[in-house]
Amino acid sequence: MKARIAVLGGDGIGPEVVAEAVRVIERVAELHGHQFALEHLAFGGVDIDQFGDGLPPATLEGCLAADGVLLGAIGGPKWGPKAPVRPEAALLRLRAALGVYANLRPVKVIPALRESSPIKAEVIDGVDMLFVRELTGGIYFGRKWREADRAVDECAYTVPEIERITRVAGQLARQRRGRITQVDKSNVLETSRLWREVSQRVIDAEFPDVSIEHMFVDAAAMHLVRRPRDFDVILTENLFGDVLTDEAAMLAGSLGVLPSAALGDGRRGLYEPIHGSAPDIAGRGIANPCGTILSAALLLRHSLGLEAEALRIESAVNAALEAGARTADLTSDAAAVLNTRGMGNAILAKLV
Ligand code: IPM
Ligand code: MN
Repeated sequence: MKARIAVLGGDGIGPEVVAEAVRVIERVAELHGHQFALEHLAFGGVDIDQFGDGLPPATLEGCLAADGVLLGAIGGPKWGPKAPVRPEAALLRLRAALGVYANLRPVKVIPALRESSPIKAEVIDGVDMLFVRELTGGIYFGRKWREADRAVDECAYTVPEIERITRVAGQLARQRRGRITQVDKSNVLETSRLWREVSQRVIDAEFPDVSIEHMFVDAAAMHLVRRPRDFDVILTENLFGDVLTDEAAMLAGSLGVLPSAALGDGRRGLYEPIHGSAPDIAGRGIANPCGTILSAALLLRHSLGLEAEALRIESAVNAALEAGARTADLTSDAAAVLNTRGMGNAILAKLV
């Protein structure tokens, strides 16, 4: 098949981990006889410095024309809270422009990594949950302003926004264990009360085979470490999803191994590891590329419909980890540590 993939390295460790994912995509294309046109585009803080804009027009056009977008990470201390243009704003604009309102973040414990998690192995064995995070609404996109001695961030959600993301969760729950936990703060927030009402109504009316329970976000944060196996699909708004997925990532051993897919109504999607730009280790070639490589697998699955190829990548990552391949975030055994390229090589070697 022919496909166009936009590749945005971004900032910090982004370009380093994306380079390994690109090698994996190219190898898979070779093995399966696909022709993928990979287009590397400017994005993030480094491009604010160069173009005055983290999302230059050519990048946005390239992403809109692509079948799928693979992104590393953005942001860094250089473009801190006081910077006039922040790279994070470019990412939010890109998500909105692509219309990717549904952020899927699977958290599954890879058996080979059960000892890498700071949580006890018997608690995390069998964990397999999928976050469905609303990605283009809520407080991230509300009006924000400053007054003399106060600052305001508005949080708004509309009924259609909640309906469409609930449908995504319903469809996905159907392919899994059929259970949704909708997370909110409805004992305090009006938007959360709307989420509760609308999500319950959509599931009752359209997904009679799926069950939905509602949970406060503070309780959800606790249950994620107390009884993580009980969760199947977790449906939540933008900000709560951001916070809870970093927490849940620790169940899987490291932020470095988790992929994500951001989808809209069509096939086009934006794929990125859930970790950030990690400026503290950027440029040293030691970051874990697994989350980005697994994000590339999600791109092949969701945007290109290449299930066998996606599985092949996922199996190669598992096999490499089973065989003991570890980046620094996954082991304290300094002698056994692989760098980013070494982990990429270990995965490529299993891609047979
Ligand atoms: C994420 C990140 C982003 C977010 C930042 C970089 C804007 O933390 O993808 O989880 O908060 O959505
Ligand atoms: Mn985040």
